[in-house]
Amino acid sequence: MTTATSPTLALAPPALSLPKAVRIASVTAENERTKTLIFEARWQAEPGQFLMAWLPRFDEKPFSLVDADPLTLTVAAVGPFTRLLHSLQPGERVWLRGPFGHGFTSAGRRLLGVGGGYGVAPLSFLARRLAAGGKQMTVVIGARSAADLVFVDRLRREGAEVRVTTEDGTAGTPGLVTAEVAPLLSSGAFDALVACGPHGMLAALAGLAQRYGIPAELSWEAYMRCGMGLCGSCEHEGRLLCLDGPVLQA
Ligand SMILES: Cc1cc2nc3c(=O)[nH]c(=O)nc-3n(C[C@H](O)[C@H](O)[C@H](O)COP(=O)(O)OP(=O)(O)OC[C@H]3O[C@@H](n4cnc5c(N)ncnc54)[C@H](O)[C@@H]3O)c2cc1C
Ligand code: FES
Repeated sequence: MTTATSPTLALAPPALSLPKAVRIASVTAENERTKTLIFEARWQAEPGQFLMAWLPRFDEKPFSLVDADPLTLTVAAVGPFTRLLHSLQPGERVWLRGPFGHGFTSAGRRLLGVGGGYGVAPLSFLARRLAAGGKQMTVVIGARSAADLVFVDRLRREGAEVRVTTEDGTAGTPGLVTAEVAPLLSSGAFDALVACGPHGMLAALAGLAQRYGIPAELSWEAYMRCGMGLCGSCEHEGRLLCLDGPVLQA
């Protein structure tokens, strides 16, 4: 279901300025607990960077960009803030600041992307950028079940070759995403790995990348408050993910 108002493009502020109020242009349900919000704005950002979304008198939380023009965020409802975002309608406003952090460098020539859950969001942005430069990527999407999958069609439209795995076998290859990725990495068909998803998945992928000698860029999640290196809440193995990440070289 998609609802929409007519889009008006506005330029975004630089990363360290105050949040900017941006109107929602449309809301699309991706699956039972995930919605995509398209805003009346375009934003200067790279795939893998994130924005801080603020709902005044409530909270402020980080989200990866799915696209920069028009600005697009995909939100899984997991708690109070994301449920409130889900209740917003076209025409209502969210206060946004950013972009923050380092995104994917997409240095490889034959790129394998792996996305778990809403981790496919930045991969869609990356696939679009690569396609614009004449490069195609392969993306393996992992989900618990068919009902949890997002972006399969969107990634194909962006020019990516898509493979699907589900833990309960209701779509694609049954099992964990890492079981699908291991033979792809060992085949020699790819010279770089990029991934975004839960920590366990990323840790397993870091091990596979090391085993097959393939450079990997992994996008890690952490609790973010300031987004600019002040509060320390996003510390991960001695690094501040809002500044050094969220994408780190494995
Ligand atoms: C760089 C980055 C990019 C992100 N991109 C997206 C995105 O594109 N789409 C999206 O839906 N979500 C994204 N998230 C996660 C999103 O920020 C959280 O889901 C959101 O803050 C949850 O807020 P809430 O109040 O709804 O739920 P909460 O009640 O705060 O959390 C619900 C559950 O999720 C866990 N959780 C919440 N935030 C984190 C976190 N940062 N790391 C580990 N566990 C967490 C909590 O422990 C709790 O179990 C991203 C997070 C980061 C750090
Ligand atoms: S979110 Fe405050 S230091 Fe990273």
